[in-house]
Amino acid sequence: MKISVTNEPAAEVKADAVVVGHFQDSALNTAAAGINEATGGALTRLIETKDITGKRGELTTLLAPSGMATATVVVVGLGKQKELNRGAALRATAVAAKSLANKERAQVAFYVSEGWSNDLVEAAICGATMGCEGQDLYRAEKTLHPFGEWLWSGTDASTVAAARAMASGVSLTRRLVNEPASVIYPESFATQAEQVATDCGLEIEVWDQARLEAERCGALLAVSRGSVKEPRLVILRHNGGPAGQAPLALVGKGVTFDSGGLSLKPSDDMKTMKMDMAGAATVLGAMSVIARLKLPVNVIGVMGLTENMVNGDSYKLGDILTARSGKTIEIHNTDAEGRLVLADALDVAVGLGAAKIIDLATLTGACVVALGMDVAGLMSNDQAWCHEVEAASQTCGERSWQLPMFKEFNEQIESKVADIKNVGDGRWGGAITAAKFLEEFVGDTPWTHIDIAGPAFLESAKPWLDEGGSGAFVRTLVEVARHWNDDSTRIPTR
Ligand code: BES
Ligand code: MN
Ligand code: ZN
Repeated sequence: MKISVTNEPAAEVKADAVVVGHFQDSALNTAAAGINEATGGALTRLIETKDITGKRGELTTLLAPSGMATATVVVVGLGKQKELNRGAALRATAVAAKSLANKERAQVAFYVSEGWSNDLVEAAICGATMGCEGQDLYRAEKTLHPFGEWLWSGTDASTVAAARAMASGVSLTRRLVNEPASVIYPESFATQAEQVATDCGLEIEVWDQARLEAERCGALLAVSRGSVKEPRLVILRHNGGPAGQAPLALVGKGVTFDSGGLSLKPSDDMKTMKMDMAGAATVLGAMSVIARLKLPVNVIGVMGLTENMVNGDSYKLGDILTARSGKTIEIHNTDAEGRLVLADALDVAVGLGAAKIIDLATLTGACVVALGMDVAGLMSNDQAWCHEVEAASQTCGERSWQLPMFKEFNEQIESKVADIKNVGDGRWGGAITAAKFLEEFVGDTPWTHIDIAGPAFLESAKPWLDEGGSGAFVRTLVEVARHWNDDSTRIPTR
């Protein structure tokens, strides 16, 4: 994606369209005032008639405005000035970009960020690119047309470079989630990761079937047995910090298709399960950004990749697996496969000497029942670490909420024949019992689990984003890495 800085006044810029921002509670900014003057007061008239109010997300399109070099001006409402944050900035530009992406446009210039901090501009640029990319990968007639070039006013080259890195990471995650399971399966996901590693300068290690057997990844391998596709485990390393500094570990669930296994899902639940690798895709997207930004921190990304399918060798209910850590697991439901994949992936992260761990997984429908489609569940064994992750997510405008990890929940995953069983006693508190299972594999390492079953995939479009993969939590992970060397833990603002 081509993003350039422009210093031209909005009325003179030779772009196919110009986007200008307007707050609900303040006067026209410089760009809007310039457009107003060039058009003989068009904006003040539209404000008088209340066609433009500045309410967040409001779009007003002016076609062929007189006195302007461009043929299209879009005025986007920015809401109240005091309520501007990264989430609002991202959505405002994404709404405008999505509406302009209805046809091909070579250049679109954004004049929204006058006087904004670099963080806000970065979010806005990221939003402008996200708004015009969608799930139409295999449509001859595209529904969204990414612009040839984004022109940005009121920023500098280094902010643009950071924003471009972020936008590409989010875009990568969304594309991988949107690809069907016939295209993205464990081996092809690993190939994509190799390409990313080459492009961004990450170290990569890929464990194939034989290596996974040698490493005794019995939980991941059991899930994979029902599939004709071989599993993989990918380890990415970004060595930006001092040699020997214990790394931040990002661990992702990469179930490239979840049929449920023998505990087969009904078609309605199965139809979106190409997205069940969103955790791994989020880790890969975030690692690409962390590397491109050359953040001064050591980070490892561990992605457990498998399909959950049905064949004559599928793992069965009542089976006892031995995970890489040595713990034995009784299987009561083959659709609770994500936690098995993560059990081994988390153990790998612990073995690599992680200082702290974050895992991301589309782990439970129960989390969506609890928190809705737009909010991720946080579960942790370390309150300070959970706060840090939550603070990062709220700062980015990515919603998350902590669920309790009371020790009473442990009883639910007790088994009479093995160390633990892979589901709770009933369906109540299913997001938490799943997290309780994961907790068994992180030892004493501070760990926060993010259940992204809701926000990872949009079942219906938003004004600012197409349906499908959302790229949610890539920006949060990057934010955590950016603050890794801070002395104090941030307290989340809710
Ligand atoms: N991948 C699913 C969870 C999921 C559900 C993600 C809906 C996104 C949207 C997971 O593997 C799963 O099937 N979980 C079961 C667990 C149950 C069997 C204990 C669930 O949530 O029903
Ligand atoms: Mn499942
Ligand atoms: Zn799953």
